[in-house]
Amino acid sequence: MSRRRRAESLAVGLVLMSGLGVLGCESPMNVFAPASEMAARTANLTWLMVALAVLVFVIVAVIIVAAALRHRARDPVAVDLSRPGHRFLVVGGIVFPVVVLTTLFIIGMVTMGFAPGRSRAPAQVISVTGHQWWWEVTYDDSALQHRFTTANEIHVPVGEPVRLVLTSGDVIHSFWVPELQGKLDLIPGDTNVLDLTAARAGMYRGQCAEFCGQQHAHMALTVVAEPRADYEQWVASQRAPAREPDDSLARLGQQLFVAGPCALCHTVRGTPALGGVGPDLTHMGSRLTIAAGTLPNTLGNLEGWIANAQSIKPGASMPSMTMYGGRELRALATYVSSLR
Ligand code: CUA
Repeated sequence: MSRRRRAESLAVGLVLMSGLGVLGCESPMNVFAPASEMAARTANLTWLMVALAVLVFVIVAVIIVAAALRHRARDPVAVDLSRPGHRFLVVGGIVFPVVVLTTLFIIGMVTMGFAPGRSRAPAQVISVTGHQWWWEVTYDDSALQHRFTTANEIHVPVGEPVRLVLTSGDVIHSFWVPELQGKLDLIPGDTNVLDLTAARAGMYRGQCAEFCGQQHAHMALTVVAEPRADYEQWVASQRAPAREPDDSLARLGQQLFVAGPCALCHTVRGTPALGGVGPDLTHMGSRLTIAAGTLPNTLGNLEGWIANAQSIKPGASMPSMTMYGGRELRALATYVSSLR
């Protein structure tokens, strides 16, 4: 095999492998692995666009190569509309893109306008407020005592429509959970409504999809779609006030929390901590991640986050709590972890 053939085979192999990697990957946030009817329609539209783009590319490439081979020896040929071949190419070059782009435009508009579940009353209305750089999530309820606020994690019942009412507390963000739904902006002073029905149980990663400052990339969320019974259990546990610490270390953590700077920014329902700047931490121990998907929620990561938030997520509102020693940090992290 010549060196050139080897290089060509390698290039083709790499392209195929990366293509298969995209299709077969189990990684979160895969537009091609829809878990709702809306996402399936979006994925179909994406495939159609890819197919048409490939078709157009191949046609144009064949014409260019054919023209280059045929006219290799001659001077450049002027376009002559009286010749049928030239006429075909010129007219085709106008008609073909007009037809392809108009078709895609119409299918795109129909897909965007499709709103499954709009006709059904939502099982739950959830207010989602974007902040630099986290998601405030409030489960609405006509009974005030049943309303609760959490952060960066949205639980929904499988197969039932939920309505997300999106707004922002500061700059424009964009809500995007590709497996479930297309993007929709969160705009300060305005609300947008997104109806969402998860067809399959699972955990779906979402990501802010509008550049919103230094930590835009660290503004993730998780949608947990679960069977009705599990969902109701989760809602009941979230409605409850925070549990009291049951060991001395967590009790020390609680004292430090409510008497120190934590309480100025965070709420833990059932304690004197009622700050409204950062996420509500009433059930922080039950969440999957810390700092909007930045770190897995473990005791060690919590300690690191409290001590050193500014080196983990520079620019975030959470200050690095450098005044605490090792035991105090462990106590605070133990307390926050215990808030299940
Ligand atoms: Cu919020 Cu990007």
